[in-house]
Amino acid sequence: MLADKGVHGIAMYDVSKTDVSVLVSEAFKFSHIVVASSTYNNGIFTPMENFLLDIKAHALQNRTFAVIENGTWAPQSGKLIRAILGEMKNNTVLEDGITLKSSLKQSQMADLEALAETIYNDLNR
Ligand SMILES: Cc1cc2nc3c(=O)[nH]c(=O)nc-3n(C[C@H](O)[C@H](O)[C@H](O)COP(=O)(O)O)c2cc1C
Repeated sequence: MLADKGVHGIAMYDVSKTDVSVLVSEAFKFSHIVVASSTYNNGIFTPMENFLLDIKAHALQNRTFAVIENGTWAPQSGKLIRAILGEMKNNTVLEDGITLKSSLKQSQMADLEALAETIYNDLNR
């Protein structure tokens, strides 16, 4: 959706497949980071939690984050992700967030489009 709006230089990583050292170095190259994670045993999916704790340890700052959470019975990764991001300094966390229950429903495409629009507008501020 961001690419369709003309945004260049987008990268997307699966945290369960990419070494966290790559994820961290990539995080330093981008102004906006969308963190999308399932809820895992009432927590954040552990590779994503590991990534977040690592960028926190590296004191990543001056970034804008958006959060997408997923869960099947009690999604709460979003709240937990925001808690870690809130412990970091000089970053912005967009208030718009999305909760996906198990899988993306057609009815939520508009929510994703709205989040993409928010990120796009923020990039062009
Ligand atoms: C091991 C495991 C633990 C999970 N823990 C939670 C949880 O605590 N709360 C929750 O709402 N969903 C939980 N889920 C569901 C996931 O967040 C996600 O919604 C689901 O795995 C997506 O559907 P799929 O596995 O069929 O692709 C868990 C899934 C797995 C496999």
